[in-house]
Amino acid sequence: MVDIIPLSSYPSYISLLPSIQTCNITNLPENYFLKYYMYHALSWPQLSFVAVVRSKSSKNGSGGGSGSVNEQYPKVVGYVLAKMEEEPADGVQHGHITSLSVMRTHRRLGIAERLMRMSQRAMAESHRAEYVSLHVRMSNTAALHLYRDTLGFEVEKIESKYYADGEDAYAMKMDLRSMWVKEDDSLSLQGEDEEKKEKKEEKKEEKKGKSVVGAGGEGEEVDEGEEVGELGKNEDKEEKEEKMVRVKVGRSLGVGDLVERNESVR
Ligand code: ACO
Repeated sequence: MVDIIPLSSYPSYISLLPSIQTCNITNLPENYFLKYYMYHALSWPQLSFVAVVRSKSSKNGSGGGSGSVNEQYPKVVGYVLAKMEEEPADGVQHGHITSLSVMRTHRRLGIAERLMRMSQRAMAESHRAEYVSLHVRMSNTAALHLYRDTLGFEVEKIESKYYADGEDAYAMKMDLRSMWVKEDDSLSLQGEDEEKKEKKEEKKEEKKGKSVVGAGGEGEEVDEGEEVGELGKNEDKEEKEEKMVRVKVGRSLGVGDLVERNESVR
């Protein structure tokens, strides 16, 4: 079975990056340095996803440190590398699919579609991206079908000689605003709740303050200049009393006995 996991959630996703890079080199002519994968994973950890096949033994938990390499590392069969555009030319917050690929052995299983949808959702939910953009070779029929027919991307324009070998690219984009979390209502409700909580806490604190003062006298305000507790008492008195206070607690005692008491005074 193929699992799709956010790149950031794998216990040590850095160890998966070389396999992701291999998946890229195997399937696409557009390749990147390892540090570029790292840059994506560290800057936008929610947006990139990887499709992995775990060996049966590692699923059972026996693929720990002593197992073979196959048992230790899941096999990467696909990935989507995505980011947020840092300085969007149009000034609109949006995501961008840097690269997508699925190994031949695992194609037409819906993996690319799932990878794409998960990344798009994360862009909308985590970054409130207005849209997602990408470039695809005009000759790449499979990818074009996926983007246009399955996912609903639209061709924005043709970018002439976009690729190093001189091929043109379709610049495509898809609106993500329908995926935004409608957080305004829930947030304000949450906000209200928190405000109420804070007010309650404040009232409690006020009451506490009053009761402490009330115990010592009739005043309503705390007089911090007065002696407070054992430490503030005059020296003569202090010398007479034992300084160490032993407190008895234990399971054998009843609840009442667990309350702190001064056992030096008998
Ligand atoms: N021919 C026609 N349509 C296809 C094909 C194909 N060979 N493969 C996928 N599709 C379309 C179909 O509409 C399909 O829906 P359907 O199966 O209901 O008909 C839809 O894509 C979803 O298919 P998936 O199974 O999710 O796609 P898959 O996991 O096989 O991966 C991909 C598709 C990523 C294009 C794969 O073929 C691949 O890795 N190709 C090489 C690398 C590549 O071209 N990557 C994209 C470059 S663009 C970029 O990275 C931004």
